[in-house]
This record gives sequence, C-alpha cells and structure tokens, in this order.
Amino acid sequence: MSNRRTFAIISHPDAGKTTLTEKLLLSGGAIHLAGEVKARGQARRARSDWMKIEQQRGISVTSSVMTFAREFDGQGEITFNLLDTPGHEDFSEDTYRTLTAVDSAVMVIDAAKGIEPQTRKLFEVCRMRNVPIITFINKVDREGRPGFELLDEVADALALDVSPQGWPLGMGGLFQGVLDFSTGAVARPEGPSREFLGTREADAPIPAELAEEIELAQGGYPEFDEVAYRSGDLTPVYWGSALKNFGVEELIGAIARHAPPPRPQPADGGAIGPERPDVTGFIFKVQANMDPQHRDRIAFMRMVSGTFRRGMKLVPSGLGKPIAVHSPILFFAQDRELADTAEAGDIIGIPNHGTLRVGDSLSERNDVRFTGLPNFAPEILRRVALVDPTKTKQLRKALDDLSEEGVIQVFYPEIGAQWIVGVVGQLQLEVLVSRLEAEYKVAAMLEPSPFATARWIKGPVEAQEAFAGFNRANLARDRDGDMVFMAKSPWDIGYQQEKNPELTFSATKER
Ligand code: G4P
Repeated sequence: MSNRRTFAIISHPDAGKTTLTEKLLLSGGAIHLAGEVKARGQARRARSDWMKIEQQRGISVTSSVMTFAREFDGQGEITFNLLDTPGHEDFSEDTYRTLTAVDSAVMVIDAAKGIEPQTRKLFEVCRMRNVPIITFINKVDREGRPGFELLDEVADALALDVSPQGWPLGMGGLFQGVLDFSTGAVARPEGPSREFLGTREADAPIPAELAEEIELAQGGYPEFDEVAYRSGDLTPVYWGSALKNFGVEELIGAIARHAPPPRPQPADGGAIGPERPDVTGFIFKVQANMDPQHRDRIAFMRMVSGTFRRGMKLVPSGLGKPIAVHSPILFFAQDRELADTAEAGDIIGIPNHGTLRVGDSLSERNDVRFTGLPNFAPEILRRVALVDPTKTKQLRKALDDLSEEGVIQVFYPEIGAQWIVGVVGQLQLEVLVSRLEAEYKVAAMLEPSPFATARWIKGPVEAQEAFAGFNRANLARDRDGDMVFMAKSPWDIGYQQEKNPELTFSATKER
C-alpha cells in the first residue's frame, strides 16, 4: 500500500493553522526551528513585492506544498504532502481547487471559538468530495469552551458523527493533560511546555467530576470506525495545543494510521486509481512569477497514478502534444528540490511558459480527462480601464496570464473594447490591481460593469448561433474563446433560459 498521505489543513483564520503546520514540519524533521515557517514565509514575501497585500493583511494569498517524511512503528516511512490552502474567505475558488488535490483534511478548531464561518465553508467543500476529516481542537492551554459543547457543535453544525479519541483534563489554568482513550494513559506536556500545566500534581488522581465527564465522553459518542471516517461520515477528534507542541504527535500518528493513501480521482469514463501503471495527473494550480526576476510559471500537478521520472514526456490535455518534463520540482518543506521520481499522491511543480493550465489532465498517452475542477461563475464583475491607453497589449497579456493562473476570470465582450474581469471575492480585485502594477507595469482602474454575473452557454451549435444573433450586446468570450452570456441580473438568466430551452446557462465550466 502507498505510504503517501496527501492532505490539507482547513480552519478559520487565527485558529492555529500556521502554528500547527510549523509543528508538523518540525516533527518530520523538515525544519529545525519553531517559527521558521513564518520567518521563511516573510523572507519570501519580502522578495516578491506582488505579495504586498498578503503582508498588509496578514493573510495568505498563495498556496504552497510542503513535503516531509517520518518513520512510524509498524508502518515504515510515511511521506506527507501538506497542501496549504489560502485562508481568506475570498479565495474560495483557489481553495476549492486545492482541496480537489488532497485525499484527506485536518480541521483545526479554536477551543474557545468552536466552528467558525470559514471552517464551515471549507468543510462543505470537503463534504462535496467526501474528503475524510480528522478534527484537532486547538489551544487547550487556554480557557476554552466545555468539551461536550464543542463536540456537539461539530456534530450538529456539520452533520457529522464525532468520535473523541481522548479527553482534556481541564483547560487553561486547570489543564492537566489529555487522557488517551486507546491507552488509558494521560499525556502531559513535557519540558518547557510544562509551564502551562495546572497546579495539580502529575500523579494526582483524576477528580470525581472529571471521571464522570470522561465516562460520558467515552460512552456517549460512536467509536472510531475507519470505514465511516474514510467515507466522510465520521470525524475522530483530538485535543491539543499547537503552540505548546502538545497533542501534535497523536495527530500526526492518526494521519499516518488512518488517513487514506492516494484515492481514485474522478475522470471521464470512470475514476482512475493509483494502481494504474502509467503516469496520470492533473493541474490544480498555476502560480506565475514566483520569482519576479525570472518570469517563471509553475504548474502544480497532483499525481494520480504511475511513477514519474525526470525527463519523462507527458501530454497535457489542453495542448494535445507531449512536453518533456526536465526540471520538475518537489516541495520539501519550502525548499524547492529537483524531483527525480514522484508517485501517486505526490505533487510536482512543472516550470512552463503558459502551456499548462488549471484543469489540464496529463498522461503518457493523452487518454485521460479528469473531471471536477470547475471554474465558478464570478459574483463580481468589473470593467478594466487603463490609465495609459498605450498599454493595451500588456494588459491583454496580463489578463490572459492571471486568468490562466485562476486569480481572475476574463471576458472579452463581442461588442466594445472594454474588457471585463470577474472574481468570486472582493480581495481578488485588489490582488489583480496590485499585480498588474508590480509585474506588468500596467496602471489600471476597475470600474463598475453593467453586468451582475456570467453564464457559460452550452447546447447545439445552431441554437447557440441563433441566441448570439439576438444577444450580441450581452455576449463575451472567455480566455478559451467559449461563449459566455453576461447577465444584468439573475432574473435575466431565468428569462433567457425559459426563452431558449435548448441551451443551458451554466454557472460552472469544467475544463
Ligand atoms: P492561522 O494560521 O490559523 O491564522 O493561525 P496562527 O497559527 O497564525 O495562530 C493564530 C494565533 O493563535 C497566534 O497568535 C498563535 O500564536 C496562536 N496560537 C496558535 N496555536 C495556539 C495554541 O495552541 N495555544 C495558544 N494559546 N495560542 C495559539 P498571535 O498572537 O496572533 O500571533 P503570534 O504573534 O504569536 O505569531
């Protein structure tokens, strides 16, 4: 069985994702100093000024891949691929795509706050794809909400069975440790982390009221069931403190033991699994200009099957002819490392000059089309106005690039010269303006557009042409040249749908 565990951490901002990531990498020996993830992150950010917004707002605009490996008793070496999801709610589209590339997720919850809006949103994305989830209730070193309340909230809010794997003996100042249900032992913080232990003695007996709580917790919830977990119906719950590096070991052990190895991925003609011998994969993310000095563009490919070897030729579905992958990149904890081989579950970065696009399937024989990586209808549309009108060519190039990267969607109206950009969240517009200026030296302003949303038109060619004849003023082409109906209101869509029953007005476009 594969020793790969490809997962993401989902959480609301501030719940502790960065801190936990750091501790997971630390435990894998990938980095040696706590704080290094942030420190390196900042150094990287300082280098590329297009990430100014990220700095100002303290949010993560880009997602990255971190790989680390570790030995486990009885399991040998396990390789973890941790995909970072952008935390801000405006980035649901990018986040969604990243979640299509993982086999499981860790949901981090702040013990004082419980389920927060972003946790719920990300959870729903996981649910859509039956991504199994392990829950980590973080910050038990601080005063939190009662354990039962937290468990019941997860169960109710997310309609999920919860199965606590242990119980915190007090929280905050009264915290004594976590009782592990499987061993019956109390895990207590060690070394410098001990400072946050309560004043009770280590070997003091568990007080009666706590004993009662534990009995209830152990008896009142379903036992862990791997089948239910892997089908996304049950979540095992762990308690800990990322900051104090407590409970992280249990968490990573649980990922190693229970999280699924590479899962089959949906494709035209049936799902493709890791047992297939030849190499297949799909691009879930493209990041341009990681280094402003070199206009590099990295496409992130999730390997679905086969063993990739450097120099191998693969056919991207969007291109139709093979490309040789000479300098693939593996992501060993922030450092880019040249990959020689990669297996199902791994992510490789493929440098390219725009030939690879989000949603592309790659295969040795050009015989695979993975499905389920949609574009979403934009909810905010803006016209792009140039400050300097001689920059039209640069603007077109920039809009094409950035739409390819998935930062924005671009629509070229059939009539008129004003291009329209569409986004799912407001923040993407700020990213757009800032990157246009920093990377393409194009000063642009965004103006209101008469349109409220866009729909991809599908249906028989004649019906499309007839529709186009009547509605030229509301038509645009997307970057692929596909026809898009620019709607002034949701009502407009309903009306056109009724008038044109042969056509569908689709809110998503699968590539
Ligand atoms: P995020 O990536 O999910 O947004 O959260 P992040 O790890 O940045 O953590 C948010 C804040 O919560 C940080 O404090 C962090 O130190 C704190 N934190 C994370 N895990 C724990 C925990 O287990 N216990 C306690 N008590 N705090 C925790 P900050 O003051 O906002 O940032 P910093 O200045 O400490 O970096």
